[in-house]
Amino acid sequence: MEGLEKSKMSVLLGIVFLLFVAHSSAFPAYSKVHNHNFVVEATPVKRLCKSHNIITVNGQYPGPTLEVNDGDSLEVNVVNKSPYNVTIHWHGIRQMRTPWADGPEFVTQCPIRPGGSYTYRFTIQGQEGTLWWHAHSSWLRASVYGALVIYPKQGSSYPFPKPKREVPILLGEWWNANPIDVIREATRTGGSPNVSDAYTINGQPGDLYNCSSNGTTVIPIDSGETSLLRVINAALNQELFFSVAQHKLTVVGADASYLKPFSTSVIMVGPGQTTDVLITADQPPARYYIAAKPYQSAQGAPFDNTTTTAILEYGSPSCSGQCALKKPVMPNLPAFNDTSTATSFSQSLRSLRKVPVPIGIDENLFFTVGLGLNKCPPNFSSSQCQGPNGTRFTASMNNVSFVLPSNFSILQAHHQGIPNVFTTDFPANPPVKFDYTGNVSRSLWQPIPGTRVYKLRYGSEVQIVLQGTNIQTAENHPIHLHGYDFYIIAEGFGNFDPKKDSSKFNLVDPPMRNTVGVPVNGWAVIRFVADNPGVWIMHCHLDVHISWGLAMAFLVENGVGELQSIEPPPSDLPLC
Ligand code: C2O
Repeated sequence: MEGLEKSKMSVLLGIVFLLFVAHSSAFPAYSKVHNHNFVVEATPVKRLCKSHNIITVNGQYPGPTLEVNDGDSLEVNVVNKSPYNVTIHWHGIRQMRTPWADGPEFVTQCPIRPGGSYTYRFTIQGQEGTLWWHAHSSWLRASVYGALVIYPKQGSSYPFPKPKREVPILLGEWWNANPIDVIREATRTGGSPNVSDAYTINGQPGDLYNCSSNGTTVIPIDSGETSLLRVINAALNQELFFSVAQHKLTVVGADASYLKPFSTSVIMVGPGQTTDVLITADQPPARYYIAAKPYQSAQGAPFDNTTTTAILEYGSPSCSGQCALKKPVMPNLPAFNDTSTATSFSQSLRSLRKVPVPIGIDENLFFTVGLGLNKCPPNFSSSQCQGPNGTRFTASMNNVSFVLPSNFSILQAHHQGIPNVFTTDFPANPPVKFDYTGNVSRSLWQPIPGTRVYKLRYGSEVQIVLQGTNIQTAENHPIHLHGYDFYIIAEGFGNFDPKKDSSKFNLVDPPMRNTVGVPVNGWAVIRFVADNPGVWIMHCHLDVHISWGLAMAFLVENGVGELQSIEPPPSDLPLC
């Protein structure tokens, strides 16, 4: 009897051993764990004729590009040697069951204090394409950002011919002032913060700016070749048009989801969004400007109206001597307020294939998104009320201006049952219905501050109508949801009308994104399945608006069993 058990046991052990050997030798590259160290520190960088100390990761600006395959895991140890609180957000990564690694400060973790560290551990599950990472604390992401490129699983390929070269193109904003001081000052005065001094491509403004011709980003290409440009808008506060002189762009993906390819001469990328485009060197060998300039939908609001450039350079021997000396050709870019170009671009996006759009809607939500003005509080001086007519700028969703907690993160409070950190009464509809895009009565301009979340049952199918308002200034708002990708099933102008507009829903091949540009004085409808438990912030990706409270958070409950529940918090999770 005992002998039989023993031999059974050894057979079992043998099988386990064989499985182990087969797994580790036959699939050597099945899924990797990538370890990185991110040291956040002040670094002197010279741009626009002056040198400043900016906050960087590992002294690099932009920060390091992370390259992984779908299925891989990342372990990024962030060491904060800067004088500021820091967190890092992996923008667009779903973070299934690992909300502790998402990064927004006071939402999923307390910030990493100066001198502290935290290791973000997460796995890429079923995503491929271009994403990025950035600081998610105050305005630190002005200089703390980088690309996160996800290649298909080992052995899989792109749904388009493999490009010869692949180049991340990070669009950013450069500030002569310290961006943290800029937002602190604006928070003190209640007014509009100063705008940036330049836009950048891979950290360089380009030669249309003073003292900037040395170091202009050069993207090499050879005649006849096709390259993949992974365009990321990392700018703090500005939607950007992007174009390459005399070259067509074939759009193949956005926010790490593939699209039906289409050709265009200009794309519009909102902060937070990414767009993958193919470009073929089919023009006479020369140097061509790659350029980005603002799409500014808010009327009368201050903005940085400059243009950043890089150079697409046909490689030697095709482009040597004369060709390399000639001034590059400049693309035609749309006017700053060209909403029709922005709209026709966003309406051209279709998922590559038919997609499973949720149709049994359990949660039908309607959220207004827009600005507001607070009356000057009685104990404030006029220097603290420098918004329009002695007010202070604010912003809200459904009339709630989002306030971050300071003693616990919302996720920690939820997980440990800590009371009085947040409430679960974020409204499913605006408290008052009004003509959102019309002439809004002043009595509706002042929202109520609160740390309110909206609870979602695990697995519920959610539709949100995001309705822009005309309070103070109507504007295109790039609304980003953490922890999810969603389908954008329709967008339009004016007030959303369920009777009329439901007929426009694309339930077949709508694009899947993590950030939707809600049209100026218009609306967008998104759908997703709440299959990722945790606390997920949804906010405008114009940092000035998130600073004013244009945010809310979803609390998605655990489902049944371990695989539908969040993992326990890591032992090094920073506490407040
Ligand atoms: Cu790219 Cu909450 O951010």
